[in-house]
Amino acid sequence: MPENIVFKSNHGIRAKHLVRMDKRLLITSGILAFYFLLALPDCKEAPKEKPADVFFPLTKHWEKAIPHQEIPVGLTSISAESCGACHQEIYKEWKHSTHAVAFQDLQFQAEWKKDDILACLNCHTPLQNQQAFIVKGLMNGDYKTPLKEPNPHFDKKLQLESITCATCHVRDGKVIGTIGAISAPHKTIKDLEFLSEKLCVGCHNVVDELNPVLVCTFETGDEWNNNWAKKSGKTCISCHMPETERPVSPGMKRRLSHFHNFPGSGIPKFFDTEAKKLESLEIKESSMKKVYSAGETINYSLKVKNSFAGHSVPTGDPERFFLITFRLMDGQGNIFKEEQHRIGEEWQWYPVAKKLSDNNLKPLEERAFTFKYDTKKQGTLTFTVEITKHRMTAENAKHNGILGKYPLFVEVFKKQYPIKTE
Ligand code: HEC
Ligand code: HEC
Ligand code: HEC
Ligand code: HEC
Ligand code: HEC
Repeated sequence: MPENIVFKSNHGIRAKHLVRMDKRLLITSGILAFYFLLALPDCKEAPKEKPADVFFPLTKHWEKAIPHQEIPVGLTSISAESCGACHQEIYKEWKHSTHAVAFQDLQFQAEWKKDDILACLNCHTPLQNQQAFIVKGLMNGDYKTPLKEPNPHFDKKLQLESITCATCHVRDGKVIGTIGAISAPHKTIKDLEFLSEKLCVGCHNVVDELNPVLVCTFETGDEWNNNWAKKSGKTCISCHMPETERPVSPGMKRRLSHFHNFPGSGIPKFFDTEAKKLESLEIKESSMKKVYSAGETINYSLKVKNSFAGHSVPTGDPERFFLITFRLMDGQGNIFKEEQHRIGEEWQWYPVAKKLSDNNLKPLEERAFTFKYDTKKQGTLTFTVEITKHRMTAENAKHNGILGKYPLFVEVFKKQYPIKTE
């Protein structure tokens, strides 16, 4: 550890003996300055000493990498690719999940490179083996100045696997499972508590401030606590890793298994990939007539209910939102009337990060949206209703330099009604 460092706890409270040490330092430097002044009578001011750098140890779980993992007995590597030699289907599913690209993700690359914040890696490439540096603490509590040293065991290939099999399955030279398999070629341990929603919540439920303009606000675990899903025994795993029955390695007998694509918003990360989508919304519409007489009002209502997600929607990343668009057009596609409604959070990022509003749909919450239009004699019209789910706005994508390179939304629902007015 470099010299000239004082210890400080992460809560900004200085330990008593260290305060004393500080005082001693101050007294000595005071005396030195005094002699200096005497020796150089022309000097008006004592020279300013650079304050000692203060060392903050890492205290929060997400500030630390998962410690270096050795290869479990019976295996030759901990890479997903190597697990995939036997767990072929699970490997293919995982490869299409967003977990598998949490590091290569263009938005992630754009954001973390801005300030080179190594703490980001603890959830996006969580194993120490995947990180180029070993972080010991933070200088002056600032995430931009970690106290780091090169990691002699850094595995660049493993880094590109992001949230890999070993993140969730390898600890202390063993493969952690929920089966208690006796026929696995690798050392295995059964741990139902470890492979439960607690594993997911470790990354998906963190609310913290890294600095005034950089906050972590993932509350999916808290949102899940205490609602119908938890009460009926549905966990992150029941919904996001649905069950199936199959051999988990060729030649083995069929058994209970879990899909590993981690479906969610369904917004792919790259234009040439697909992402599996889960549906959270139950949608009810009022009926539309085919013919309206001039002067009659089109009175359409749409109800959306968060019936199927065990947390708010959107959840997690605060930039996500649903957009509901009502549009009335003539036969040539000219728009007479358009209305949009947004479901999501709104944040101010500068000068300090602050949530301005939040109308996310809570579990089982229903919301109604209406569209009204007084018809004239306009012949044939088309009324469209569209619901889209967005990762972020085009403006934010532009800000990150990824506009046009990054899929921004998916369609959730679309209906078209041809109408006659006479
Ligand atoms: C040489 C083939 C092979 C390789 C490589 C392999 N496994 Fe396995 N694994 C198996 C077999 C066979 C089973 C037992 C399946 C059964 O009993 O149905 C198993 C079981 C498991 C289980 C369930 C254990 C339990 O008791 O719950 C997990 C989890 C697992 N493997 C993960 C991994 C991971 C992660 C890797 C890579 C780091 C890996 N495996 C590499 C063949 C392999
Ligand atoms: C080591 C941290 C970590 C753990 C553990 C973890 N996740 Fe994730 N998860 C992430 C990150 C980071 C992303 C975002 C990746 C990206 O968008 O590039 C993500 C993305 C997801 C998504 C996809 C969201 C979407 O629609 O794009 C789902 C669903 C998900 N995780 C569910 C789970 C479940 C279920 C578990 C537990 C079995 C789990 N996660 C465990 C970090 C983690
Ligand atoms: C009862 C089922 C259910 C449970 C339980 C559940 N989820 Fe979800 N989750 C969903 C559905 C459905 C969606 C799709 C939301 C959408 O885009 O419509 C979703 C979306 C997500 C997303 C993507 C975020 C977004 O808005 O695009 C993440 C991340 C996620 N879930 C994580 C979790 C975690 C972590 C847990 C456990 C604490 C969990 N989920 C529990 C059903 C569930
Ligand atoms: C984000 C965490 C996570 C990642 C990443 C992950 N798994 Fe799993 N895996 C789980 C959980 C949780 C279970 C147990 C589900 C249960 O039994 O409730 C599981 C179960 C398994 C099982 C037991 C059989 C089954 O399907 O239930 C095998 C084998 C397995 N995983 C292999 C792998 C391999 C191989 C990879 C990488 C290609 C991988 N897992 C990546 C969380 C993960
Ligand atoms: C505590 C764990 C954790 C840390 C630390 C963390 N992330 Fe994430 N990150 C997540 C999870 C979980 C998700 C997925 C959220 C979701 O899909 O709702 C995610 C998703 C993302 C995404 C994708 C958003 C999207 O809409 O798909 C980006 C970009 C990202 N993180 C950047 C960062 C940056 C930059 C840092 C460091 C300043 C960071 N993350 C630190 C857990 C973390």
